[in-house]
Amino acid sequence: MPTPKILIQLDSDSHASSFDAVVAVDAGVDQLLQYPNIEASNVQGLVHGVMFTRSPAELKNTAIFIGGYNVIAGEAIGKEIAKTFFGPIRVSTMFDGNGSNTTAAAAVLCAYRHITPHQTTALVLGGTGPVGGRVARLLLRNGAEVYLTSRDVSRADSAKKEILERVGGAAKDSSATRIHAIGSDTIDSVLPEANVVFGCGAAGYELLSEEKLCSATNLRVAIDLNAVPPAGLGGIGVNEKAMRRGDRVDYGAIGVGGLKMKIHRRAIQKLFEQNDAFFDAEEIFAIGQELEAAR
Ligand SMILES: NC(=O)c1ccc[n+]([C@@H]2O[C@H](COP(=O)([O-])OP(=O)(O)OC[C@H]3O[C@@H](n4cnc5c(N)ncnc54)[C@H](OP(=O)(O)O)[C@@H]3O)[C@@H](O)[C@H]2O)c1
Repeated sequence: MPTPKILIQLDSDSHASSFDAVVAVDAGVDQLLQYPNIEASNVQGLVHGVMFTRSPAELKNTAIFIGGYNVIAGEAIGKEIAKTFFGPIRVSTMFDGNGSNTTAAAAVLCAYRHITPHQTTALVLGGTGPVGGRVARLLLRNGAEVYLTSRDVSRADSAKKEILERVGGAAKDSSATRIHAIGSDTIDSVLPEANVVFGCGAAGYELLSEEKLCSATNLRVAIDLNAVPPAGLGGIGVNEKAMRRGDRVDYGAIGVGGLKMKIHRRAIQKLFEQNDAFFDAEEIFAIGQELEAAR
């Protein structure tokens, strides 16, 4: 009998996410163990529990998923897990707090169906949030010129610094000169040269009016991740998927959601192919690229 695939769902919320649980089952997990109320300080014992039960050859049949609404708490849990592992005694782990990594990966990949990554000027509205920050990071890694916005330019600047820290060595190349932090009040100066715009603001707020969106003649793609009315990018319907409007194609949150779900399921499946992977934004994006190549 094959060793059952066990997924340990660590969630910082008081109830572990039912969404993440359904995806795990649909991805073929045999046994899902959910742990709510997880903090970095109480994770070590649980991680020891998965490290020392199965033989090294069987460790790839156990994996960890980190979720929860609080993305910063989830990132701290991920760091604590990585610190707890040693040598080959480890299990593969995926971080997708509040859907941030799968959503960002799917959004960027939808855009790449229509534009060439390294010849792109991208405007990331709401770039200080978990999704927007990851969208900006993935675009930067793939060679785009990135403008990241916030209502407060100092917050945009902090987000930019955090992204450059994450891209590490790459910051020594052109990355540092290709990312710009700007205030929402200066969007108009960038809009005419933008080829793609991502609406990554909080749910239920318009970030850019339909009139301004339509005035940006170089825009080839507009992606709105907000599913709660009003639209984040004026005039884009939540279900739209590659909806052509003149020279531009538009995606709404549910239009991106199909690819996001596929990426999430495939990432869960890939956790069980080895025992030493850590899936963060870049790795999840790479999984999405494989799916897109097979499309
Ligand atoms: N389709 C999916 O599966 C999926 C999954 C996850 C998330 N989402 C959606 O993706 C979007 C981004 O998610 P997130 O978790 O990163 O969002 P978030 O943290 O709630 O908000 C992102 C940014 O929006 C800005 N913001 C907050 N209130 C605002 C307001 N009243 N007006 C304008 N801007 C405001 C903030 O930036 P500043 O304060 O710096 O301006 C904040 O950092 C959300 O709409 C979310 O619902 C979709």
